[in-house]
Amino acid sequence: MLDQKTIEIVKSTVPALKQHGLTITQTFYKNMFEQNPEVKPMFNMAKQASGAQPKALAMAVLAAAQNIDNLGALGPAVKKIADVHCDCLVKEEHYPIVGKHLLIAIKEVLGDAATDEVIEAWRKAYEVIARVFIDAEKEVYKQRGVAI
Ligand code: HEM
Repeated sequence: MLDQKTIEIVKSTVPALKQHGLTITQTFYKNMFEQNPEVKPMFNMAKQASGAQPKALAMAVLAAAQNIDNLGALGPAVKKIADVHCDCLVKEEHYPIVGKHLLIAIKEVLGDAATDEVIEAWRKAYEVIARVFIDAEKEVYKQRGVAI
């Protein structure tokens, strides 16, 4: 479980990050697809181009961070996302890639406010959020009889 200070830091930075959703989204996907091209084929580029849904991933992490001390409340949403992830064969090993690019995007948006302490708090929070999805997806793969 996260300590109170970490929870407070993360929660206090979520609104600013959400306000700059476009920068977060653009920075996140641009860097991830450039630096980790192996994940690109998993994504539907038509959705990226139309802008219909590309915000979903990064924004869902921020939404989860807002509820970091009550992640149980996300239950039904987690199941829905886990199903989509399993359709796309998202694996545990992909989570650090998303985490890395999310932290870089957060740093870019927060600028000087992104102190080492803030980034460390976000790193810890992302780990907790990622674990919720990884565990949910293990269960979905098991139910689907998919060995991954
Ligand atoms: C905690 C981390 C993550 C969160 C909160 C998250 C959240 C989301 C959300 C909300 C969606 C949209 C679901 C829908 O269409 O209903 C989504 C889709 C997707 N996510 Fe994640 N995601 C995370 C991690 C990852 C990782 C590690 C990968 C693998 C690189 C990934 C790959 C995808 C893909 C491929 C889609 C479908 C998008 C498309 O069709 O273009 N996600 N994710």
